[in-house]
Amino acid sequence: MDSFKAFRIHSPAGGDDARVETISLNDLSEGEVVIRGEYSSINYKDALAGTGAGRILRSYPLVGGVDIAGTVAESADPRFSTGDRVVVCGCGLSETRDGGFAQFARVPADAVNLLPAELDTRTAMGIGTAGFTAALAIHRMEHNGQHPGLGPIAVNGATGGVGSLAVDMFSGLGYEVTAMTSKATAQDYLQGLGASQVMNLKTTDFGQRPLEKAVWGGAVDSLGGDILGWLTRTVRPGGNIASIGLAAGVELKTTVMPFILRGVNLLGINSVDVAPAERAEVWARIASDLRPRHLDAIATREVSLAELPAQLPAYIEGTVTGRTIVCLQ
Ligand SMILES: NC(=O)c1ccc[n+]([C@@H]2O[C@H](COP(=O)([O-])OP(=O)(O)OC[C@H]3O[C@@H](n4cnc5c(N)ncnc54)[C@H](OP(=O)(O)O)[C@@H]3O)[C@@H](O)[C@H]2O)c1
Repeated sequence: MDSFKAFRIHSPAGGDDARVETISLNDLSEGEVVIRGEYSSINYKDALAGTGAGRILRSYPLVGGVDIAGTVAESADPRFSTGDRVVVCGCGLSETRDGGFAQFARVPADAVNLLPAELDTRTAMGIGTAGFTAALAIHRMEHNGQHPGLGPIAVNGATGGVGSLAVDMFSGLGYEVTAMTSKATAQDYLQGLGASQVMNLKTTDFGQRPLEKAVWGGAVDSLGGDILGWLTRTVRPGGNIASIGLAAGVELKTTVMPFILRGVNLLGINSVDVAPAERAEVWARIASDLRPRHLDAIATREVSLAELPAQLPAYIEGTVTGRTIVCLQ
């Protein structure tokens, strides 16, 4: 524990200012729990922070990585004991405090979840923030009345981390899923995860009217921009849209018509600031009814900390399919 490897980001420029180096526990943000990291994973936000394509960190330097799973090395909080298998997703990792791309992390006890017995640390990071966010979206949508009878669920950015896991989890629950992608070659992959239909977003006409034909029972949106606007105009009465990401844009152009005439619900999903009790509920569902059935097809890549930086640009280019696990030891 005296010294260990970490991927540290030194400035908003990313690039050469983000690199693997040797640090010690004293270099890390304060916290009651020290975790010996076994695995982390790459999320879009990590690519924004590590390449400098987006400003994620609030102070510098910080260790990158919004996720970590491992075992407790020491804890000043009685809820955790040495050797407990734990997971941390979001909670300010690689934003306001040092993150998970390191062999050790030091975090506040409130950020830590015990891993359900059914999940090992590698599986937890195959799922990671992307899968936690997909599961949180499903959890919140269902609390707000979503059910398979409302109609098919539209999932965009479908070959990405959130998208792939949302397709897998929703179809596992018995929903019909339409996967939306910009990749022409993704049909077999997405049908293999459980999608009933695959739509190519590059050839989709989004129309202009305030209300288009209502086809979707609900939607999971990782993209924002015109595509999210179109979803508001095409979701059926009472359906829910989980707004998760901004991979295609931060703007949302729509009217109030879908909301006041169809009762469409736009649910904002923020996986970073979830109360500990709800986080535990969502992890318990990930280990049971939401457990991805095709994780081996989704999380196909495993890289070391040294190999991590070279992986990041492809996320910004939108060319990645599925998830990448980072082996920390
Ligand atoms: N709200 C939260 O708490 C939360 C949590 C996790 C992630 N997110 C956000 O959710 C989004 C997805 O995250 P992720 O980790 O799943 O990312 P990812 O693995 O990189 O997947 C993003 C997918 O979006 C599509 N895409 C990327 N760039 C695009 C572009 N310019 N135009 C259209 N489509 C594009 C691609 O899918 P196709 O080629 O299949 O279309 C890509 O695979 C990101 O914006 C991320 O910041 C938010």
